[in-house]
Amino acid sequence: MVLSAILKEGSAYLKEKKVEEPRLCAEIILAHLLNLRRIDLYLYPEKEVAERERVLFKRLLTRRGQGEPLQYLTGEVTFCGLIFRVRRGVFIPRPETELLVQAAVDKISGLPGKKRILEVGTGCGAIGLALANRQFYCLATPISDAEILLIDKSLPAVRTARENRRRLRIISNRVRIQQEDFSAFAGRTGKKFEVIVSNPPYVPLTERRNLSKEVRREPEKALFGGPDGLNFIRILITESRRILAAGGYLIFEIGYGQAERIISLLEKAGFKLDKVIKDLAGIDRVVVCQKHGSA
Ligand SMILES: C[S@@+](CC[C@H](N)C(=O)[O-])C[C@H]1O[C@@H](n2cnc3c(N)ncnc32)[C@H](O)[C@@H]1O
Repeated sequence: MVLSAILKEGSAYLKEKKVEEPRLCAEIILAHLLNLRRIDLYLYPEKEVAERERVLFKRLLTRRGQGEPLQYLTGEVTFCGLIFRVRRGVFIPRPETELLVQAAVDKISGLPGKKRILEVGTGCGAIGLALANRQFYCLATPISDAEILLIDKSLPAVRTARENRRRLRIISNRVRIQQEDFSAFAGRTGKKFEVIVSNPPYVPLTERRNLSKEVRREPEKALFGGPDGLNFIRILITESRRILAAGGYLIFEIGYGQAERIISLLEKAGFKLDKVIKDLAGIDRVVVCQKHGSA
């Protein structure tokens, strides 16, 4: 069978399974499998595809049809213009989180002196490694003297983040990656950080059944923040207050309709709200706040 025929068949199968954008999805899977660019599928429609590859393609289509996210099938996601490895058991970075990276770069660039940056719940390392990448390659953002620590309590996440650090050729003694539970870490670290960033688990448990079957394939601990979605955010605020340097910034992502309650938690904890950034859909998405006082 030739490329064009296989593609037609695959896209019809995904359409029948009610997968969104079935043609695009089939193209991405096939191109990934054959190690081609998507454009090659159109440049060489008559190229023969071996039986073994057809079988593999069918297997991947079946998994996609059953609701497995495309990124787990290809093992890749693009974030901040960089390609990250992802796999089952590890959260898939979302485009709106790029806003958080930009907000962090802005704040880090404006801080005087040495900067220590902590990312809480790094997953595949997207936020922290994107920051590190800018640190080394983007001269317009002078954060080259920063020390970056990425933590996550999930071992698959930590392993994937380390793999991404290697693939992106980021020097490991400038960007450390550790398996840690945030509360335990905050309780014992003697260090202070100038900036803490996080995309915490913030989905309320009550939303579980409204999530798409793709999202439900992602790890629960990465998604859910207890009954109201704020369990981890409460810990993030309290513990960050403890380990931030005076005047340091806490920058984190939030969910739909959570801004007001979070601002009130921040004020009670002694933070000054700097800004709330909306995403492209107009939803409050990233909170930037600063620790008050001198301790
Ligand atoms: C929403 S995901 C974000 C992953 C990544 N930062 C991103 O944006 O793609 C939340 C991450 O927090 C981690 N996590 C959850 N509870 C944690 C805890 N108590 N301590 C450290 N990490 C935690 C999860 O394992 C998960 O990787």
